[in-house]
Amino acid sequence: PRLLILGPPGAGKGTQSANLAEEYGIEHVTTGDALRANKDMDISDMDTEYDTPRAYMEAGDLVPDAVVNAIVDEALSQADGFVLDGYPRNLEQAEELEGMTDLDVILNLEVDREELVDRLTGRRVCDDCGANYHVEFSPPETEGVCDECGGELIQREDDNEESVRNRLDVFQDNTAPVIDHYADHDGFVTIDGEGSPDEVWAAIRDAVDARI
Ligand code: AP5
Ligand code: ZN
Repeated sequence: PRLLILGPPGAGKGTQSANLAEEYGIEHVTTGDALRANKDMDISDMDTEYDTPRAYMEAGDLVPDAVVNAIVDEALSQADGFVLDGYPRNLEQAEELEGMTDLDVILNLEVDREELVDRLTGRRVCDDCGANYHVEFSPPETEGVCDECGGELIQREDDNEESVRNRLDVFQDNTAPVIDHYADHDGFVTIDGEGSPDEVWAAIRDAVDARI
């Protein structure tokens, strides 16, 4: 299946996309991870304000569309089924995506703003394999150490409170209209993202199974 997962920063898109990729044997296409892996790539020939994605990302601002569109176009052209996470983030990107592929299911994860701040400021990620933890809600067995691979857990540079609040504002201003844009798509479904990760996963799996 071709799945899109929408929702504010911290809603659990990354967490649930990992489940979706495993359950359906599909590719997890995530612009956030792709950009983090290429933070220092030279984008100066794209007529951008900054020369690399890094400055945009650390502040929690959007990386210019041309950069992100190219990443997604390339990734989707190589994937059969996929779950797309982190894109589109504005109406221009949504229009671009329409030229690349159709979608079967659009999952819209909803979580209250203050809960999002708590989730993001408490998140830790594995520096080696990218696995996701939370100091309180899903701690690793040994503090600071990845359960999966033994790697070191670090805090993302944009998970400080100031960047988090800016990311939430950017979401309201740019991405909320994308959700309205998809709301009348046949495969659109809103999921309550506030339960435990397992509860949210059960709701997502049911919603996808009912639509594919
Ligand atoms: P990106 O990496 O996409 O970040 P984001 O959208 O801010 O989303 P997050 O990864 O922070 O949150 P998530 O929803 O995946 O939540 P998670 O599962 O980790 O983008 C980063 C930056 O890249 C952007 O700011 C921008 O600069 C740039 N960028 C990316 N895409 C772009 C685009 N298309 N255009 C332009 N620029 C772009 O969960 C969060 C935490 O909560 C974790 O600790 C987790 O363990 C915990 N948690 C998860 N589920 C639950 C639950 N049910 N209950 C309790 N805790 C939970
Ligand atoms: Zn790891």
